[in-house]
Amino acid sequence: MNTGDGGRKGCGVQDLAGKVAVVTGAGQGIGRALVERFCAEGMKAVIADVVADLVEQTTAELRDAGLEVTGVVTDVTSLESVEALRDAALEAYGAIHLLCNNAGIGSGSEGHIWEHHVNDWRWSFDVNVMGVVNGIRAIVPTMIEQDVEGHVVNTTSANGGFTPLINSAVYAATKSAVTTITECLWGQLKESGSKVGASLLYPSTSTPGVLATGIWRPGANRPERYDRPGAPPREGRDSLAAFRARMEQLGLPVTFAPLSEVAELCLQGIREKRFWITVPNEAQSKKIMARATSQVERSDPAYLLETNLMTGSPAGTKR
Ligand SMILES: NC(=O)c1ccc[n+]([C@@H]2O[C@H](COP(=O)([O-])OP(=O)(O)OC[C@H]3O[C@@H](n4cnc5c(N)ncnc54)[C@H](O)[C@@H]3O)[C@@H](O)[C@H]2O)c1
Repeated sequence: MNTGDGGRKGCGVQDLAGKVAVVTGAGQGIGRALVERFCAEGMKAVIADVVADLVEQTTAELRDAGLEVTGVVTDVTSLESVEALRDAALEAYGAIHLLCNNAGIGSGSEGHIWEHHVNDWRWSFDVNVMGVVNGIRAIVPTMIEQDVEGHVVNTTSANGGFTPLINSAVYAATKSAVTTITECLWGQLKESGSKVGASLLYPSTSTPGVLATGIWRPGANRPERYDRPGAPPREGRDSLAAFRARMEQLGLPVTFAPLSEVAELCLQGIREKRFWITVPNEAQSKKIMARATSQVERSDPAYLLETNLMTGSPAGTKR
């Protein structure tokens, strides 16, 4: 089915005032920025995060700022926990119109792909992929049954969601999966004539710079069941410092872009019913084309071997 409109026609939430958003991984970072932006439109929001202190602190701060928010400690790796989140949201506000499956982690894995511990894979897939699956399984049926306009935004990344950075295989593989899952979700919702829409959020900004979030502390708050020898410390590894050092060696200062820009991008994407919510980027577009060309022509994926400043090069470098 060709909608002929870049995927913008059909379902979605237009008038946001008074509507209800559930955002996972909202204790800090991009998730928190999304909650702040949605509430500025008059929405009510449920702040879900696995770190209880973050839920408590963020909920209190946003309430003090006059926003209508409820905090629910949620582990997205558990379907039961996400079902409890759904029930808490319905009890607090009576409906769910916008679901942002945003919780995500960096694995903290180091070295080559054949050296990665299986628990790095398990933890990342459980949070980044099964977290999205659990959000869809637990909450989308409710959104469909409500029979009013609704929207699901799954947070992916250019890393894996467009083309992978070869030095972060675990993370890239999870985001590739999120992208495919969301494409299928979009198609199935469209095909079934649902009033619920779906989008992919690629956190990106027009302002140059990186996003200062917890993602720069890979390995933080790793549950015991995913432990491995040599795992990063509980507070995570400071990968921003390593990135800063690499950039400084090249004479490039590290700057930061505001998280509010990502939230604004997401809001406009929902309003315009865009599937691919991302700031266009010429370098990224070139890589997407190189990948597509390589697939069509069955040539080697040489575009993967470009030096990449985010993770350092070559693959296997200890970070
Ligand atoms: N920051 C970036 O540059 C960037 C770029 C592309 C994509 N992303 C994606 O954006 C999303 C948000 O990341 P962020 O950068 O704001 O990082 P962040 O670490 O600041 O926020 C992620 C939140 O998810 C929570 N979380 C982790 N495991 C969870 C679980 N099992 N259940 C519930 N919550 C859990 C964390 O406690 C944290 O508060 C992630 O999906 C990430 O992969 C971030």
